[in-house]
Amino acid sequence: MESMIRIKWFEEVDSTNNELLRYIRDYDNLSVIAAVSQTAGRGQRGNRWLSKPGDNLTFSMLLRPQGLPVREVMALTCLATLAVRDTLRDEGVPAVIKWPNDIYVGKKKICGMLVENGLDGTDIDWSVIGIGINLNQTEFPGELLNPTSLKRLTGRSYELEPFLEKVCREIEKLLPELESVEGRNGLREAYERDLFQKDIAASYRDLSTGEEFTGILRGITPEGLVRIEAEGLERTFGFKEVGYIL
Ligand code: BTN
Repeated sequence: MESMIRIKWFEEVDSTNNELLRYIRDYDNLSVIAAVSQTAGRGQRGNRWLSKPGDNLTFSMLLRPQGLPVREVMALTCLATLAVRDTLRDEGVPAVIKWPNDIYVGKKKICGMLVENGLDGTDIDWSVIGIGINLNQTEFPGELLNPTSLKRLTGRSYELEPFLEKVCREIEKLLPELESVEGRNGLREAYERDLFQKDIAASYRDLSTGEEFTGILRGITPEGLVRIEAEGLERTFGFKEVGYIL
């Protein structure tokens, strides 16, 4: 079947998320903006996303979901992370999702995502899902904590355009799941199944108090908060409320 996803490549943009957001009214559902180089790539928590021009995938997809309640917005993250994880697994690397929206191999980060949403009342109107996947970069600036790339893991080199098409095919396979409550629950269950550090005692930091604690990550709530069991009690945290100590 022919793909509904339309990919537009740029040699250079500030940020593929910004490019979509600037002209959002002109872009249809399933438009993808990809860039060989970003001059102001954006990461989570206001950080920069640093990616060597031409080496990696940096792209954003616009989704205009129909009838997706804001309280189920996590379904979008589940869909995108599962698609990238599965594409990487197809290349033979044991990728896992690290809550909320990173992809790790071992203790190293190979992919990060920045999801930005617009609302229409109590539904999601649009979502810009920005994805950075490290493919061919082997040297990283020291300020990055624990980066890796597919080339570092396999020793092979990857072409950007075919790889992006593979990721898009994985995304497209999952899109029908967004349309029903059952489908969205299924996405969440698949996301939760083998999350990074799931069911393993590990160190975390409560970012509201600075306290370090040992806990066992059990999964997520329907809203996408992480559930961590500590001293026999299950606690839930939002993205800015807990940190991993790796
Ligand atoms: C993170 O892990 O901090 C999120 C990184 C998200 C990076 C991607 S690259 C494509 C898109 N454009 C951006 O400016 N950011 C996202």
